[in-house]
Amino acid sequence: SMRIILDTDLAMGAPGSDIDDGFALALAYADPGIELDLITTVNGNTDVESATILTGELVNRLGIKDVPIVRGASAAYTRPHLKRTPADNVLALRDSARTPTGGYAAVAIAEHIMAHPGEITLVAIGPLTNVAAALLLEPRIAEAVKEIVIMGGMFFGTMSNRDMPGEFNVWVDPEAAQAVLRSGAPQRWVGLDVTLQARLNREHAQRMIEAGTAFAPFAGEFTLAWIDHIHALYPGNPLEADSCAMHDPLAVAVLTRPDLCEFREVTVSVITGEGEARGVMITDRREGAEPPAANARVAVSVDADAFTEHFLGLITGL
Ligand code: BDR
Ligand code: CA
Repeated sequence: SMRIILDTDLAMGAPGSDIDDGFALALAYADPGIELDLITTVNGNTDVESATILTGELVNRLGIKDVPIVRGASAAYTRPHLKRTPADNVLALRDSARTPTGGYAAVAIAEHIMAHPGEITLVAIGPLTNVAAALLLEPRIAEAVKEIVIMGGMFFGTMSNRDMPGEFNVWVDPEAAQAVLRSGAPQRWVGLDVTLQARLNREHAQRMIEAGTAFAPFAGEFTLAWIDHIHALYPGNPLEADSCAMHDPLAVAVLTRPDLCEFREVTVSVITGEGEARGVMITDRREGAEPPAANARVAVSVDADAFTEHFLGLITGL
């Protein structure tokens, strides 16, 4: 089975924060074709301290044993530290949550990949700061990694995250994204234009609640609360009215179900530096001619119904 490192800005449980990293971790655990070797945390949806506590809490809830959690970057490369601190309800979990293993995420990522050349898939579902730092520490991971699979970017669509150009994970740390794109590592990107189509609605949440298992009902309640939350934030947006996107779980799903998305080899770069277009991806999308030097495989479509069935089938068993 496929051995992975999951690098995440998990925020399931932080007030007003996206729940999809939590579902991605749950899906990776539930998928019999995936072996979770290591979980690393990164600043993004929430501060890295909260992400680490909430990951420690979720692994306990899921009954995941013997998978180290290593804390990572607390800020993006070229942005000042945000000095965000955990909310009270997150701090309250500190004693019950699994304590992280010592050390730093970038080191743990580099060491684990170098110890198992050709065997490890690195799945990055937050800003790419840890991945870029690991590439700086040990550039040979670009050859030793089996593949890097990334939820991030916006390639073929015109939609964007609500209040930034492009997509959140790339926007938070465009320099890190550029480093990954230039690394030469085999990489597959699942971007926002595709993940926005992979959605859970209230009926799906109800299916989880009715599963009556240890985790699924909790996850179903979280889904209903998150749909309510984004609906209240963006009442005029019909896309957000009755469902929520499962961005990160789609990047986990394609590990064992590559048929869920169609991928295309393209040349991608990202706009760094200050300015309104910071974080926007540039993709040569001309049909026909092969791109001169493709550096990435990018998802161009998704079978959304097949994803949802795959996802619910595994999550309702937890
Ligand atoms: C990405 O940003 C986060 O809010 C989600 O967890 C996902 O990784 C989507 O743009
Ligand atoms: Ca994420």
